[in-house]
Amino acid sequence: MTTLLTGISQLHTVSEAGVIEDAAVVIDGSTIAWVGRAADAGAADERVDLGGRAVLPGWVDSHTHMVFDGNRAEEFEARMAGQDYAAGGIALTMEATRSAGRERLTQLVRERRADARAGGTTTLETKTGYGLNVESEVEAAQIAATLVDDVTFLGAHLVPPGEDAETYLDLVVGDMLDAVAEHVQWIDVFCERGAFSEEQSRRVLEAGQAKGLGLRVHGNQLGDGPGVQLAVEYGAASVDHVNYLTDEDVEALASSETVATGLPACDLSTRQPLAPLRRLIDAGATVALASNLNPGTSYTSSMNFCVSTAVLQQKLTLEEAVRAATFGGAKALRRHDVGQGLDPQGRPAKGTLVPGAAADLHVLDTAHAIDLAYRPGMPATWRTYVGGEVVFG
Ligand code: NIG
Repeated sequence: MTTLLTGISQLHTVSEAGVIEDAAVVIDGSTIAWVGRAADAGAADERVDLGGRAVLPGWVDSHTHMVFDGNRAEEFEARMAGQDYAAGGIALTMEATRSAGRERLTQLVRERRADARAGGTTTLETKTGYGLNVESEVEAAQIAATLVDDVTFLGAHLVPPGEDAETYLDLVVGDMLDAVAEHVQWIDVFCERGAFSEEQSRRVLEAGQAKGLGLRVHGNQLGDGPGVQLAVEYGAASVDHVNYLTDEDVEALASSETVATGLPACDLSTRQPLAPLRRLIDAGATVALASNLNPGTSYTSSMNFCVSTAVLQQKLTLEEAVRAATFGGAKALRRHDVGQGLDPQGRPAKGTLVPGAAADLHVLDTAHAIDLAYRPGMPATWRTYVGGEVVFG
């Protein structure tokens, strides 16, 4: 079954083809078969007119924490009144999540995925990390595995209150990892003062590597630290937050395949300095934008908001911000195009609109994608396609 999409004012391919005006796309099943000028399009089984709207690849949100219950509005209010963010709040969410039950957590993740899709997100990673015991971490991983694209084990999010750090870490890299590994593709560690030290982070990354998992690091969020250098040393797919960077950190990222993921909604919500994405791009690093949906530091899945912020406050051009929120996220998940629309594992690539790639499209309710930043906060998403199917709009 082929579908010809016409009525596309601008097609942002996020590839060498750039932005095509008066464009058309042919979808064949779940992948893209053709893109180009509408005047050159061939026939298809079905034709859909998008009414002169701009089309982007669906957002690839490569950093979320979707499996949680409860909220931390009081903590947020206190922060807006001047209190600093500290990782300790994670323990409150841990308690709510442990007692929620599988059915409720599944429903919450389903609703959060629907919200994300309504904002143009087509690929979602989520982390565990609010269970922090074997049973709850496995439950979170299992729920996530049924509802999102990529799952990351984040047992090393916080040492649960009252537990000894080294004993807990033994559990994380031992029984917990053994139990969770079959449900996840990635392992992550919160490498930060107040969370896990460099030595502890090394143990986590090495244990994950030995299990065949891909690596990610939460780093340099609350101050300078070893997170970026560790991520680069271990060949992690991404290091996320990157608020506080030395020149050496920027250089290390620029000369590596590790993606620097900016989380602007989190930066604003924690009143941290916005990550220096302009500096990273100028140095040659690959940058991703992600929502960091979680109840503590970023209670939003709006990638439209992240893109607006990256343009308005982090000085990216629209094209750079779109690339970061699509191709950048895909590279952070190793789902990026490495030729012929395929990712490094030969699957349809994400985050780019070229033949062979996944038919994941974000149709904006405007003819001009710049409206994402020019008209910040206005409803922007008109329709979302995942694998050629309409999932919103
Ligand atoms: O990415 N940095 C660590 N984890 C989350 C925050 C978790 C929380 O406070 O609940 C983050 O910001």
